[in-house]
Amino acid sequence: MSKKIVIGNWKMNPLTLKEAEKLFAGTAGLIAGDKKVEVVVCPPFLYLEKLRKISKRISVGAQNGFFEDTGAFTGEVSLEMLYDIGARYVILGHSERRAMGETDMDVNKKVKSAIKASFTPVLCIGESARDENHEYLNFIRKELEACLAGISRNSVSKLIIAYEPIWAIGEGAHSATPEEFLEMSIFIKKILSDKFGVEAGGKIRIIYGGSADEKNAGEFLKIGKADGFLLGRASLNPKKFNKIIQIAGEI
Ligand code: 13P
Repeated sequence: MSKKIVIGNWKMNPLTLKEAEKLFAGTAGLIAGDKKVEVVVCPPFLYLEKLRKISKRISVGAQNGFFEDTGAFTGEVSLEMLYDIGARYVILGHSERRAMGETDMDVNKKVKSAIKASFTPVLCIGESARDENHEYLNFIRKELEACLAGISRNSVSKLIIAYEPIWAIGEGAHSATPEEFLEMSIFIKKILSDKFGVEAGGKIRIIYGGSADEKNAGEFLKIGKADGFLLGRASLNPKKFNKIIQIAGEI
């Protein structure tokens, strides 16, 4: 069985490097050193290099990355550059980026580039709403297939899929239920094993994101059989973040 993983997506927080260092050090200070659970924090780009040096226990990841290595792409930061400064994980296709115009085709190029650069890509998928006719399942299938198009089975050993239903993300939203996650994760696993074969597909971890916290984490792991979490708000609170890591270490 593969290790559970807890990933914090700090999004565009906090406001200053000083605060970021304090938050990261505070988080690292709480987490047990036994490495039972893989722990990753994804801060804004410009804090990455400094934070990476604070703790060996927590790996750092990026929240995005561009697929070309270098060139005339004003404002972009390439995955190769991010790897060079120590990022080893990258969140790709987050719904907040898709809402700003990122397409499945962009995400597909980024996943390929991330694999080439030896990252652990965390590919986010999720529907914006659920419907009685289960159209959302078709949406997820299409999104997943488009984002993974042209990727071979021998290059997906590190891939992680984060199922983050858009309706469950952020302030005022409610999380999916562990049962909803389980059903979706079985559906995703089937698509992955059809595409990559049972062996390679079966090794891809499927994690949950969307209002996950220290109160519902246990059920997502036990009932939902989640391989871990992609946390937003809870990752900005060292105590909550650590509690979730502890829970993951016990299940
Ligand atoms: P919240 O945990 O704040 O709902 O955010 C989830 C998320 O978008 C993580 O990527």
